[in-house]
Amino acid sequence: MNNTSWTQLWLDYEKKRGKVSLDKDNIAVLIDGFTENNRIIKSIKNELLKAFKGLYGKEILFAEKESSIDESTYRIAITKSENMASEGYLIDAEDKGIVINASDENGALYGVFHVIRELMRGTKLREIKAECKPSNPLRMMNHWDNMDGSIERGYSGRSFFFENDNFYINDRTRDYARMMASTGINGIVINNVNVKDAATDLITDRYFFRVAELSELFADYGIKLYLSLNFASPIELGGLKVCDPLDEEVIKWWDEKFAEVYKNVPLLGGFLVKADSEGRPGPFTYGRNQADGANMLGKAIAPYGGIIIWRCFVYNCTQDWRDRKTDRARAGYDYFKGLDGEFLDNVILQIKNGPMDFQIREPVSPLIGGLTKTNQMLEVQIAQEYTGHQIDLCYLMPMFKEVLDFKTYCSKDKDTVADVVSGRTFGNKLAGMAAVINTGDDTNWTGNYLAAANLYGFGRLAYNTELSSEEIAREWVQMTFNLIEDETDKLVSMLLNSRGIYEKYTSPLGIGWMVTPHDHYGPSVDGYEYSRWGTYHRADHLGIGVDRTDKGTDYAHQYYPENAESYNDPDKCPEELLLFFHHIAYDRKLGDGRTLIQYIYDSHFEGEAEAEELYETWKGMEAHVEPEVFASVCHRFEMQIANAKEWRDQVNSYFYRKSGIPDEKGREIF
Ligand code: GCU
Repeated sequence: MNNTSWTQLWLDYEKKRGKVSLDKDNIAVLIDGFTENNRIIKSIKNELLKAFKGLYGKEILFAEKESSIDESTYRIAITKSENMASEGYLIDAEDKGIVINASDENGALYGVFHVIRELMRGTKLREIKAECKPSNPLRMMNHWDNMDGSIERGYSGRSFFFENDNFYINDRTRDYARMMASTGINGIVINNVNVKDAATDLITDRYFFRVAELSELFADYGIKLYLSLNFASPIELGGLKVCDPLDEEVIKWWDEKFAEVYKNVPLLGGFLVKADSEGRPGPFTYGRNQADGANMLGKAIAPYGGIIIWRCFVYNCTQDWRDRKTDRARAGYDYFKGLDGEFLDNVILQIKNGPMDFQIREPVSPLIGGLTKTNQMLEVQIAQEYTGHQIDLCYLMPMFKEVLDFKTYCSKDKDTVADVVSGRTFGNKLAGMAAVINTGDDTNWTGNYLAAANLYGFGRLAYNTELSSEEIAREWVQMTFNLIEDETDKLVSMLLNSRGIYEKYTSPLGIGWMVTPHDHYGPSVDGYEYSRWGTYHRADHLGIGVDRTDKGTDYAHQYYPENAESYNDPDKCPEELLLFFHHIAYDRKLGDGRTLIQYIYDSHFEGEAEAEELYETWKGMEAHVEPEVFASVCHRFEMQIANAKEWRDQVNSYFYRKSGIPDEKGREIF
């Protein structure tokens, strides 16, 4: 077994050679109704060639017509059929083999990847049947790559797009596009939302040529390229004095800029914008609101069919947290709810899953479904910024599923987050999901080999939000490894349990943070990022938690009444979010009769012990995993255990000292 294969992740066909059988000797592919020299159809052909060569050592034949196919040959027909959903496909058996029906090239591409996936998992070709259509129209990855090659919140090396203000476009880029398409991703933002320095020039002739080249490569796999935009470009590039969205000169500047951009990069999907947040410029500087900013850009880009994705991660990071009515969690709703219905049709708001910032546990953002007349999409993070830096194992699909399944009560039916962000609830055409990506230039793409489960998983989930976390994990394990069945089950359950374990040894019951400021790995219970004022958790000698009820910041009432009522009441609030919504006394009894303080002690001891169990289970797989992969993952587990111990000890001793209440079980608290 060689290790270079890890460049292909779950598409490593060679690795499966001899492991998956084929009944007939020959394979013929018949393309019917699609234009043969279409760029995506060409990619389909290449992928099929690569897959059958890798899996079976076989060349496939591209048949011109029916008659050229004999008895010893299976046929894979890829047939254009108009009545299929956009980007969907139907796979069925027929006399001579199977047929993949799709109405567009993306659907055909996804159907082909479905067949390849099933073959890799050991399904017989003639038994592959499926009917699939995407849950979400937009399925996007957001890179936080900077043009100097660094990655904001990157844990897998440096950027594979940029270095020293130059682009890389090479075989690795193509492999990346193939892998993303194989999961159903159809949009990629290549640069960091914090657009500075050379990245501002991405919309100038300094980079047009390279951006266009990359957009073409992406298009071969049905993916649109997007850029993050510097709202202050009229000042920084245009020499204007302001970037006020209502200023005539600014409007004219953007009109001309987008004309120039689309002349040079016609395949561009549009732009992602972070404004008025964490030091970024935006409409607030000029007394304008977020809709003024987004619509100004939306109007300018409309003639070219582009879209503006406007982030709702807008808050004042210099707030004085000592004021008990101040609450960062309120910010998104406070800024955007009043603007509902004011955004143009080609503008979509991108909303982080929680109101704060990608913590291991947060309630769902009340903006999702709170907005009823505005295009909206969900933003999650698979880069493990607050969830273990791709050192600790943390498979995030269970968290994303909880978010998607959350009932917002925004409508009589179809009111879950999955319904809202897919556009089903309010009939939006622009809708979907985006993830801050976890890749870099490490050979294995994600630093920790096991973190690739999140890379694979997000795409699959965004394409089909009905899939379970377990189904996705199983697919990934089966495609990626050659484990025996029992070990496959074990690795799947390791993945499924990992988020709960991480939560147990870090911050309890939805309180969040307690993490080292800025770096965001390891504990710092009182750590607070932006000022010397206070902490996030508001612990004192009697209790802990933020009062977000009507007696506190009243954040709880940003939800529809059904949710507001339960969040507002400590007896009804879901326990896992108790400290997010309430300041609770250490001696208060929780659901199972334990006191809060005892729960904190227990969960930290348990979490650390369970992290050790994860490692033990992994060790049992040594015989069937490549030695380098095995050793590298072992090393990560050792670091994870050290981290879990550190969290356990710091958090437990902090609360022991604050509360003076000893552990009932008499365990040593350092
Ligand atoms: C977090 C993260 C930043 C990032 C920001 C964002 O605050 O720590 O690095 O820029 O989110 O989502 O824009």
